[in-house]
Amino acid sequence: MRLNLINYMENIRNFCIIAHVDHGKSTLADRFLELTGTVEKRKMQEQYLDTMELERERGITIKLQPVRMLYTRTVTDKERTITDTKLLYEDLTYKIRGAAFEVRKQVGPGHKESVYQKALALEFEKIGVPFEKEKRLDVLYNGEKVGTYQPDFLVAQKVIIEIKALSFVGQKEEKQIWHYLKGTPYNLALLINFSPNGADIQRIINLPLQSVPSPQESVYFLNLIDTPGHVDFSYEVSRSLAAVEGAILLVDASKGVQAQTLANLHLAKTQGLIIIPVVNKIDLPNARTAQVKEELAHLLETEQNEILEVSGKTGENVEKLLQAVIEKVPPPSTRTITDIKRTITDKSPIRSVSGPTLSVSRALIFDSSFDAYKGVIAYVRVFDGSFKRGDKSVAWASKAKFDVLEVGFFSPKLTTSIELSAGDIGYIATGLKDPGLVRVGDTLTTRTITDTKRTIADKSPIKSVPGQYESVFRPLAGYKEPKPMVFASFFPENAEEYDDLKDALGKLKLTDASLIYEPESSAGLGRGFRLGFLGMLHVEIISERLKREFNLSLIISTPSVEYSVKLTGGEEVRIRSASLLPDPSKVESIAEPVVDLEIITPSSYLGSVMELVSSYRNIYKATDYFGKETALLKYEMPLSEIVTDFYDKLKSVSSGYASMSYEVKGMTVNDLVRLDILIAGELVESFSRIVPKDKAYYEGRAMAAKLKEVVPPQWFEVAIQAVIGGKVIARESIRAKRKDVTGYLYGGDVTRKMKLLEKQKKGKKKMKEAGRVNLPQEVFLKMLKR
Ligand code: GTP
Repeated sequence: MRLNLINYMENIRNFCIIAHVDHGKSTLADRFLELTGTVEKRKMQEQYLDTMELERERGITIKLQPVRMLYTRTVTDKERTITDTKLLYEDLTYKIRGAAFEVRKQVGPGHKESVYQKALALEFEKIGVPFEKEKRLDVLYNGEKVGTYQPDFLVAQKVIIEIKALSFVGQKEEKQIWHYLKGTPYNLALLINFSPNGADIQRIINLPLQSVPSPQESVYFLNLIDTPGHVDFSYEVSRSLAAVEGAILLVDASKGVQAQTLANLHLAKTQGLIIIPVVNKIDLPNARTAQVKEELAHLLETEQNEILEVSGKTGENVEKLLQAVIEKVPPPSTRTITDIKRTITDKSPIRSVSGPTLSVSRALIFDSSFDAYKGVIAYVRVFDGSFKRGDKSVAWASKAKFDVLEVGFFSPKLTTSIELSAGDIGYIATGLKDPGLVRVGDTLTTRTITDTKRTIADKSPIKSVPGQYESVFRPLAGYKEPKPMVFASFFPENAEEYDDLKDALGKLKLTDASLIYEPESSAGLGRGFRLGFLGMLHVEIISERLKREFNLSLIISTPSVEYSVKLTGGEEVRIRSASLLPDPSKVESIAEPVVDLEIITPSSYLGSVMELVSSYRNIYKATDYFGKETALLKYEMPLSEIVTDFYDKLKSVSSGYASMSYEVKGMTVNDLVRLDILIAGELVESFSRIVPKDKAYYEGRAMAAKLKEVVPPQWFEVAIQAVIGGKVIARESIRAKRKDVTGYLYGGDVTRKMKLLEKQKKGKKKMKEAGRVNLPQEVFLKMLKR
């Protein structure tokens, strides 16, 4: 029996954890890492998978981080199923297989058997596989000893290993070993052939299946993707979901079902994932475990006994949960056949064409990172075929060609391996230097076509038939395109840093596919970029990262949504910045995006949440009750209202309990005007905003007052004015800071003091005329929030 791909795939489980923000995903992931020994306990720091400094500071997951864990499950006789018996001593087999691959990789082809044997012994010692080398085994005939047999290795007093270094092993060798094996008390032999093409391993079993000794151990490869829970990052969640077969739906026992629980559950269901419902944080004194279970059972239309009670903090029932993942989440094979993009009318078989069978490797990119030496590293889920070092590959949509530099797994650090095959989640180092060529959602495929019908005798070169290939190949279904909701302009404070900013954005884009940017230039601020974001938290995070990780000082405009402006001539333009709004005389109407907003709140906060909403422009739609104590409020609201500080305020009026999600509904014409800010008489374009006309006065005053607080005092008095259509609607002034020029004169000559003050006054006047106020970056960052 060959240790083939099917068996390997049967033991893979790809899953993710979905939850509302702070319901404990990262903490649970930490327990998984500990339990599986993926990260040693002493190296364990809290929320291990949140690697970004910002994530640690804020305690939120911004970027998903995949990890592969090995879990050995011991199954007693009673629980054993037929699938389990298919693989005998599979944990040992996998270890030996890994060792053989390593030896072949390091030693290379063409050596004698003894060389491989010595190397394998060293590898076994390194990874702690117990073995005997010169063990003589009795050969029995009808129970009588008739001779001895000495295998190359006896491993763990269980498995016989025979080593060959042939170009090909056939039935003859297999049969010979089977005969040896039969005469011994052992049940499994591995025939390892170090051929010119690699290490080939065959399993030879001598055993009637029913008599497999028990209990038996099975090794599972668990690929976990931790996902972010904040409303701004649902795009990241959708990418994770497309790479897995199952999802743990985690709900905090003290908070119950919240808005993102619903939104993420919806995404997971759309992807056809198996859902494992879990009530987490059951150790909390205010846990409402029973009630939350009831809510969840109601939501999923399932029995309460299907819902696990877990504490990521204490570790209670975490192992049970891991076992539930193994039992309930299907192995990857079942999903490879579905091509989500195919329509029902499209009835052609996915890969089979007339003529030779083509084996095509396909992997879906769900994320990427950048390494100075290895270039762009694509994080992938392999759906078909395999990828290994040296494979000539191509990214389907961007048409970028590359030779695979390295493949491997996340453990959670990048760990090289020989091959990534169907079902695996891992990485492919592309060597490409241009981040734009490796796009999330794109399909990687190998360029050569392997004709699986070819025999060994057939030595003619494999024909590559580009036309045919293209007609046969179908890229995997892409992910949901990230839709930017908020736009802001970023200009370097120092014009020379434009290229640095461009570089930095390129690098950020690699770790954050949802970020979009395009060059922009402004009369006052020079060259910069207009960036598109998923929401306000996203704006803040990117601004902070540009500052911290790339040391850039930036001028950032007030974030804006996209408006559709109808001009008097009938033409329509889309603008993403207030500063681009044409002169009011040329504008007939302005439409803005409107969303369907859903807020889930405990009933006790209903009053304060409704009061908060009433201070924003809104259209009330409905209130539903969801369980006894949870209310679901539905509104229609302009997007511009909620992208600023609405989320933060919602959290604060509900002590963190209320949550929201929204979906863009369409565009609506409203009475909107442009509000400008002048500082020391100069228009500061980046503070311009489009606001509802009836709120303009209030907004102008609020902005001027806030600027007064955050602009540092200058050597001269600075006027701050809020202006609409040339009319000043609010004014504040910042008093000049006064340097004490007369301090050292005490007593005596008053005229001398006056003279000095007079001189200072003149100096200040001159400065004022020259007058540009230098606004430090902090001012722009602080003004991002209302
Ligand atoms: P995001 O990544 O921001 O979506 O959060 P998360 O879902 O990963 O939550 P995280 O693991 O960061 O946990 C949020 C908070 O809850 C932290 O303060 C944890 O210490 C705490 N927490 C997590 N699990 C448990 C638990 O089982 N019991 C208790 N008492 N606290 C927990």
